[in-house]
Amino acid sequence: MGDKGKYYITTPIYYPSDKLHIGHAYTSTIADSIARWHRFNGKDVLFLTGSDEHGQKIERIATSLGVEPKAYVDRIVGTFKTLWDKYDISYDDFVRTTEDRHHKVVQEVFRRIYAKGDIYKDTYEGWYCTPCEAFWLENKLVDGRCPDCGRPVELVKEESYFFRQSKYADRLLQHIENNPEFIRPESRRNEMVNFIKSGLEDLCVSRTTFDWGIPVPIDEGHVIYVWFDALTNYLTGAGFLDDDAAFDRYWPADLHLVGKEIVRFHTIIWPIILMALDLPLPKTVFGHGWLLFGQDKMSKSKGNVVDPMELADEFGVDAVRYFLLREISFGQDGSFTRQALIDRVNADLANDLGNLLHRSVAMILRYRDGVIPETGPLTKLEKEVQELAGITAREVGRHIEALELNAALSAIWRLVGRANKYIDEAEPWSLNKAGNSQRLDTVLYHLGEILRILALLIKSFLPTTGSKIWAQLGIGDDLELTTFADTRWGGLKPGTRVKKGDPIFPRIEIDAVNEVEDVAAPDNRQKAGGEESMEKVASSDKPLVSIDDFAKLDLRVAKIKAAEPVSGADRLLKLQIEIGDEERQIVAGIAQHYQPDELVGKQIVVVANLKPAKVRGVVSEGMLLAASTADNLSLVTIEKDLPSGARVK
Ligand code: MSP
Repeated sequence: MGDKGKYYITTPIYYPSDKLHIGHAYTSTIADSIARWHRFNGKDVLFLTGSDEHGQKIERIATSLGVEPKAYVDRIVGTFKTLWDKYDISYDDFVRTTEDRHHKVVQEVFRRIYAKGDIYKDTYEGWYCTPCEAFWLENKLVDGRCPDCGRPVELVKEESYFFRQSKYADRLLQHIENNPEFIRPESRRNEMVNFIKSGLEDLCVSRTTFDWGIPVPIDEGHVIYVWFDALTNYLTGAGFLDDDAAFDRYWPADLHLVGKEIVRFHTIIWPIILMALDLPLPKTVFGHGWLLFGQDKMSKSKGNVVDPMELADEFGVDAVRYFLLREISFGQDGSFTRQALIDRVNADLANDLGNLLHRSVAMILRYRDGVIPETGPLTKLEKEVQELAGITAREVGRHIEALELNAALSAIWRLVGRANKYIDEAEPWSLNKAGNSQRLDTVLYHLGEILRILALLIKSFLPTTGSKIWAQLGIGDDLELTTFADTRWGGLKPGTRVKKGDPIFPRIEIDAVNEVEDVAAPDNRQKAGGEESMEKVASSDKPLVSIDDFAKLDLRVAKIKAAEPVSGADRLLKLQIEIGDEERQIVAGIAQHYQPDELVGKQIVVVANLKPAKVRGVVSEGMLLAASTADNLSLVTIEKDLPSGARVK
């Protein structure tokens, strides 16, 4: 492990001022994916997160709730940890700024800088933004408000300790110039250079008008300014003062990942504290953009805050992680909408990846009894997909090094797309029909092997999905223990037994939910629009389709084996049907027109190749045909008795 070196990555420590929203989950998901990738790449990773619990803002909230600040933060920090567990955030350590180990570090840092003569006492008179916990000079305010968040500022006048930031301004500028990797992306570097050049004031590093903080070690009437306290968590987490060997190994940090509004604290105050301590500076501070709700900033007052817990419960953690990583160009602002999330899941996860896995495993089961065959001689096609798999693995590594996460995922999905096309080109069904057994073996082996490599490449971003693919491939080895070297072609052992699994990402059919219910009658939720929409369906002029379009539908006779209501959905029934040898479950909006008992034994017609979908949380693997008017519905059935599975053309 150690031979490849270490990688120390941090998230900001979050304020327990409120519940975390999807923007916070964005920062942590990115950091987690980078951390996981470096572990996979053989690095000894330290991934740190935590909570920023002191300061005036937290004290005020606790007071307004009538609780002690410590009792208040304890409760909220518990919810952070639950959220990170839900999101599979694989942090190695969690620093709470109220912990003793951190208290000790902050006081020692203050003491050392004071002893050096870089902290002195004076009086501060100026403006303070409590939500940002930031001091502002009058000339930096915008319309008398905080230039960062636009909220009102307060005038404060108090005795304070000051940190001689100004003394280090030139050295900092020099460092930024000599180390283009220090502030990224470049646009933020330019902003910071301009900010420093416009003149650095000495920084106020203590407060006396409230108590909720770490006392100044030489003057107990003062508490240490919350950003001085917070930034120092990165030293605490690396073992400063506590574990010299760990600190020597992990410090300096390789990457501080932060949102754009706090780049200033991390690229000016933080490096200057470190310079005053004679410690090396972090290699990179990356300021990512904000996740907007549509075009707006998320905020409680606008009521557009998206709860990451609810989102993960509704769509699954990996679906949300995928959206966050893929949709937003890293470094820029991005927009969250439910529709964009649903579109991503359906197109990339259900359609492209889900179908590739489903088709491949189904064919290995059908044609080879589930056993991965030996590959035969390669054609141009196999050479091409093998080459692309190698290129993709290297490309993902390069993109992660460059912190281009969305590009890393695009590269992986290019391989997914190529593999789906390979199936269409190689036509395993025709090879089977023609008895071309050796060629069929080759194609099936290649599909299994591409999926194995995809599981490895995907697992840093979508950990559960990686494991699900691994499990369906039937590979016994622990996916956690694999490394980048395992992405080399040929790791899949012939003889491995694949396993049929559930679709990894059923399509999210928000519209289909309504459609299914519309077939019967309008659901209560949409009564007003329902009847009208049925009228439209009845009289609509749909575009002409070719016979080829129609032939894409696999219509079959099915026999209903069992039927039961779907709890909480009074229009829906869950049916177990038989199509030939296969048993399936479908959900249909027919409960207002048929009793479950009268359905059992009926022969119906179903669309057998409809992508699986979830309807009110229940998986539906097909759709039955029915004719309907506004108030009546009749199942489509067949006139003579034919075996189930018979084609309908
Ligand atoms: N406590 C400070 C950080 C101290 S680090 C030494 C803080 N906390 S925070 O809870 O307000 O924000 C934590 C992180 O979440 C920041 O990087 C911030 O940019 C990020 N985000 C908060 N809202 C966000 C979005 N809507 N979109 C993306 N990131 C967002 O600042």
